[in-house]
Amino acid sequence: MANWVDTAFERAASKFARGAKLAAQQGIIPYKSEGGRYVPSPFDGNSWWTGGFWPGIMWQLYHATGEAVYKTEALRVEELLTRELMTFDLLNHDVGFMYMLSTGAHHRLTGDEAARTNTLHAASLLMGRFNPEGFIRAWPGKERAGYAIIDCMMNLTLLYWASRQTGDPRYDKVARIHADTTMREFLREDGSSCHIVVFDPETGKALERPRGQGYAEGSSWSRGQAWALYGFTLAGLNLGESKYIDAARRCARYFMAHIREDGLTDSDFCQPEGEERIDNIAGACAACGLLELADAVGGEEAETYRAAAEKLLRALDTLCADWSEEAPGILQKCTASYHDDGAGRHVNILYGDYFFVEALCKLRGTDARLWMKD
Ligand code: GLY
Repeated sequence: MANWVDTAFERAASKFARGAKLAAQQGIIPYKSEGGRYVPSPFDGNSWWTGGFWPGIMWQLYHATGEAVYKTEALRVEELLTRELMTFDLLNHDVGFMYMLSTGAHHRLTGDEAARTNTLHAASLLMGRFNPEGFIRAWPGKERAGYAIIDCMMNLTLLYWASRQTGDPRYDKVARIHADTTMREFLREDGSSCHIVVFDPETGKALERPRGQGYAEGSSWSRGQAWALYGFTLAGLNLGESKYIDAARRCARYFMAHIREDGLTDSDFCQPEGEERIDNIAGACAACGLLELADAVGGEEAETYRAAAEKLLRALDTLCADWSEEAPGILQKCTASYHDDGAGRHVNILYGDYFFVEALCKLRGTDARLWMKD
């Protein structure tokens, strides 16, 4: 495996060394790339949930290579993201994605104290979204007080980190309550997950499970499945509890059973036969989860997860990576949402590239472990 991984890593490193300069010239936080340029997020300016992935790429590459170009760019964007900590009406539970990979990574890799403080502010915002009926509220808006979504399993990493940093168990306790609710209300018998559960915000009773970004109610949105697989793995590792690893195993089995023959990932595992709608972000994220899960379980079972991760990553590399100098991003055929093309369909979206780079770093033994409490 080593050869293709090293080649892909080197190509990614030089693409994003050029990209770091281009993004700085453009003065934006890249969300996707198109026509040789980066494009900012489609909604909510720098408060959009994906803002952390670009600095996350930069920190992973800085950690692996020590090249200053990546750190300089990560710090440029960190300044923009830190300003967003005041935009209470726009920020939501995705502060985990935004700040674990920016200020959190900065503190982890350099010990910077201001970055630590800002990450703790973000963790407190996430705590403030906790509904004592048992879930972390996803989004703002009066009509969405009871909404929780599977993606939040990744955001919980901010709480594990904050508990470790402060010695205050409340962050972990809230994370556990939310993870237990998610296990009970989101995961189905067959190991698949729904995207959204709408709870009664007064009683915590689950009322509805709308389709969210997936194909239909009751279907299986593949990126949500990847969030579940990786999120439960990270819960197991960070909280030291085997029940979450068991949940991750169930999610992994379902995901692996639905990988396409060519190794790519459909946008929804229940989409109509013959429908060409692929989401390579899901494949890259699931590969990261599978590699972590493999390390967590060991033995022969681990080999199954590693083989599936390699199948996903090889397919991304050979079928959907644009390694040309003109392209500022890597993975093509990324799809933000099954029915709504507003945030991108079958284009390069940079959070897919983040997970691809993270997976390559894992395989090379240089992963900066940005989702871990320590
Ligand atoms: N967290 C939203 C998404 O995965 O599109």
